[in-house]
Amino acid sequence: MTTVTANGTPRRKFIGMNVIIKKDRSAWLQGPSAKCSAVPGEHKHPWRLILLGAPGVGKGTQAELLTGRLDVCHLSTGDVFRAAGERLDRDQSPAMKEALEYMRRGELVPDSTVWEMVRERSSCILDCGGFILDGFPRTLGQAESLKELMEQEKLSLSAVVNYELPLDEIVRRLSGRRTCGKCKSVFHVTERRPKAEAVCDHCGGRLYQREDDRPEAITVRLEAYERSTAPLIQFYKDLGLLLPIVATGSPGEIVAQTMDKLDELAAQRGDGDDRRTTLHLAPKL
Ligand code: AP5
Repeated sequence: MTTVTANGTPRRKFIGMNVIIKKDRSAWLQGPSAKCSAVPGEHKHPWRLILLGAPGVGKGTQAELLTGRLDVCHLSTGDVFRAAGERLDRDQSPAMKEALEYMRRGELVPDSTVWEMVRERSSCILDCGGFILDGFPRTLGQAESLKELMEQEKLSLSAVVNYELPLDEIVRRLSGRRTCGKCKSVFHVTERRPKAEAVCDHCGGRLYQREDDRPEAITVRLEAYERSTAPLIQFYKDLGLLLPIVATGSPGEIVAQTMDKLDELAAQRGDGDDRRTTLHLAPKL
């Protein structure tokens, strides 16, 4: 089902229980020369969220569920790297080739490369009617750069959702993950099985296991998280933006918990009416 926004741009919506048509993310995945065919609607108080949490905690899964419900764009830096990795060798810049090597090893890509890539796509953050950042920022340097960019445009974050999960569950989620090569939707071999074996429910693309979900890369990623990303929890707590959520339970239960907290936040800030309207666009999972 497709509706149109006030400016006539097509907007995609949920078409039934648990069936999500993913929003187009061409401008984010391919860069500013690409145009998105569907954009979020216009909202007086758009949601501008960051999802924090260790690798495998379920950020991508939640982002996918929340974007439909909140009518925002899902901006994942990991997805941009993976999309670049699928291009022909001659179409990859030297900086991107280097970034992909870091990623394969499970290490963080250097801040300068990440920031260059995000800055090129800054219209997805600044001009889009709301966003969920997934996997960015991941270091204090990246967080400071984002803060500065948004302050220059007099924009503020709505909240930073921090998903928390025990280590053994994280490893179980990562090792069973399967990702769509085309639209990047995320599945799990036991917990979130696709309807047809190795085929994406949303676009029919082929599902594959990510290279950095090998056990040795998982260890490196978890160490990088502890060293570089975990300090962001205190950073955003000090800014009064942190919303901690225990990420045990089914994806539907976690998204319901997240929505409840966001609803409370909107009510506290006095912009609940506009935001609740957005939330009610989507059915319960
Ligand atoms: P990125 O793609 O961002 O990976 P990540 O942060 O390591 O997170 P993951 O995608 O691994 O996990 P997730 O939390 O999204 O979990 P998911 O929903 O998939 O980054 C990859 C790499 O790119 C980095 O290592 C780095 O090299 C580079 N990079 C990217 N951004 C960077 C940056 N800003 N700076 C520097 N380098 C950067 O879920 C995992 C599995 O669990 C799935 O199979 C899912 O189906 C399942 N699952 C989810 N929720 C549940 C649930 N509730 N119950 C049971 N199963 C569940």
